[in-house]
Amino acid sequence: MFQMEERHWWYLGMGSITRALLDRWVKPNSRIKILDAGCGTGAAMTTYLADYGDVTGVDIYIEAVSLSRRRNASRLARASVIDLPLASASFELVTSFDVLCERGVVDEIQAFREFFRVLIPGGQVLIRLPAYDWLRGRHDERVHIRRRFNARVLKSLLEEGGFHVEHVSYANALLFPVAFAKRISERIIPRVGDLSDFEIGGMNDLFRHILSWEAPLVSGSGLPYGLSLYAIARKP
Ligand SMILES: C[S@@+](CC[C@H](N)C(=O)[O-])C[C@H]1O[C@@H](n2cnc3c(N)ncnc32)[C@H](O)[C@@H]1O
Repeated sequence: MFQMEERHWWYLGMGSITRALLDRWVKPNSRIKILDAGCGTGAAMTTYLADYGDVTGVDIYIEAVSLSRRRNASRLARASVIDLPLASASFELVTSFDVLCERGVVDEIQAFREFFRVLIPGGQVLIRLPAYDWLRGRHDERVHIRRRFNARVLKSLLEEGGFHVEHVSYANALLFPVAFAKRISERIIPRVGDLSDFEIGGMNDLFRHILSWEAPLVSGSGLPYGLSLYAIARKP
């Protein structure tokens, strides 16, 4: 991830979509306090989240925390999203990108309760997760994905955690047929599954443009299907 996320189509395209969502649904007019829960190697924190406020990152793996530090992220802690070592009501926004689906998160509801606790009243969460459990493939096993989600399930988990859901949309719809074909072929020809979903050779720029093109749709009316799922919700 550390090597790929500043140039790979998926990370760059998802970055454009996330910015569009922040501009439309969070629209901070001053610098806010942001927690990136499951910050990975720190790219979201240091590339675009930093434009909206002061970002704190937590991740369960010490390697992730040290790689984030190499990207000059300064507010960092090694911690689990289900037991945050952070004061209650101390953030205006919690972001969590492709984390609650991980093997390392055994209880998503507990994670949502923790996000709720550390947010100020009126604060928001912005969540991204992989979509559709029936699309699980070899790539998911490799990147430790325990579970994929759909809009209905994510909405009810957020509501169970006490949140008021403001916007839900799928993303990465245009490339859905490509992923679908790969999942089907890896079930028929196992060697296709040896290729990670990230290995698409010389198509990087094309795929980045295709994904970025979805940004106004995801942040606007929302997309009815896609390989990823976004939700924005508010603590009442
Ligand atoms: C797919 S990566 C996503 C990283 C980053 N959010 C991004 O979008 O690039 C998932 C991250 O979740 C972290 N993670 C897994 N279980 C966790 C837990 N219980 N608490 C905090 N982080 C966790 C992993 O260490 C990994 O960095």
